[in-house]
Amino acid sequence: MRTAALEAAEAGVRPRRFVAIASALAAVVGLAAASLAACSGAAETGRVAPPASQTTTTRASCTHRPDACTTRQAADAAGVTLGTAVAASHLDQADYRRTLLETFNSITPENELKWSSIHPTPDTWNFGPADQIVDFAQANDLQVKGHNLIWDQKVIGSTPDWVLRIDDPAELRRVIRDHITTVMHRYRGKVDRWDVVNEPLDTVGSGLYDNHFRHVLGDDYVAEMFRIAHEADPEAHLFLNEAAVEYQPAKAGALIALVKRLVDEGTPIDGVGVQGHLISGSVEPGVLRTLFDELRSLGVAVAITELDIPTSSDARPLDAQATVYGQVLAECLDASCREVTTWGFTDRYTWIDDFLGPGRAPLPFDRSYRPKSALNAIRDELLLHQNGN
Ligand code: XIL
Repeated sequence: MRTAALEAAEAGVRPRRFVAIASALAAVVGLAAASLAACSGAAETGRVAPPASQTTTTRASCTHRPDACTTRQAADAAGVTLGTAVAASHLDQADYRRTLLETFNSITPENELKWSSIHPTPDTWNFGPADQIVDFAQANDLQVKGHNLIWDQKVIGSTPDWVLRIDDPAELRRVIRDHITTVMHRYRGKVDRWDVVNEPLDTVGSGLYDNHFRHVLGDDYVAEMFRIAHEADPEAHLFLNEAAVEYQPAKAGALIALVKRLVDEGTPIDGVGVQGHLISGSVEPGVLRTLFDELRSLGVAVAITELDIPTSSDARPLDAQATVYGQVLAECLDASCREVTTWGFTDRYTWIDDFLGPGRAPLPFDRSYRPKSALNAIRDELLLHQNGN
């Protein structure tokens, strides 16, 4: 039995420690900490033999027959990148593959490109699982977002211990340059955009996170990472990715200030991703639109990169969830955001089962790959925004 905990261990992260950060975030959004017990019951295997053929879709207008088009076609027709995080270990399941290919036009490896997964020791490169995902994307005409190059966050960040032990700035710079360059060169032309720095800000608060890279290299490390990534692949779109800004106005302000400084200094940053793990199950109307408008005014692209919306104990939790999915899509697309990526797509496999405890069903398909109302809400917004309207 392959469990979420096992996958997390392979990715070098420690789900048991999720509960600490989940509790801190819960305090911010006013959730009961008691409901946040860590649990590893996410995964069922249910493996099936690969099907003889895979479903591929073509770019098509859904204008005349919206009911006949797949969600993926609706996204294509709206000019929207509709993505999802995937795990290499699930790609051999027919239901998983079919649902993925009918719905999304972009994928993000959930853990396979993280430093601790792909480069766990100085001399070990574990390219296999990421190669598998990128090859799958190429075979099925999917975009790939690279997640991520630099992420040191004490609870779930993914910098391996051997890097955390390097205290000499020159040596750390050498190791970072080698890592970023090796990974970006391998996937050049296949991964069109990268999260260069993930979560540079404090999880709860508004300062720069005091991680290893900042500690050794100084505050300018964020800009430096973008410069290194740009040298490694000048064609790639480079993103800064941040969490938990949707319900912390001070942190949203800090994000805007950080991006403004980077842009003013001429840093090669192309976009900002807002993760969108809406752990309270909602976000105040207008918050995302305002944030995206402000970021867009700085000249960067904006995206939602890790959307999931845990259900609450409402009488009609799935309807409430669908409303929030629709609201998020609408605010994002209205603010000229052109990418929405969900963090997984089936409630069968979601990190939220570890982070908040089981049963929160945060994704647009249920555990049996049946579409939920949330998927209809996403589709409706895409159809409304066809042809850039
Ligand atoms: C999570 C994965 O979904 C889990 O499988 C893994 O155990 C831990 O990391 N913000 C991020 C993502 O940027 O990389 C995290 O992904 C979720 C929070």
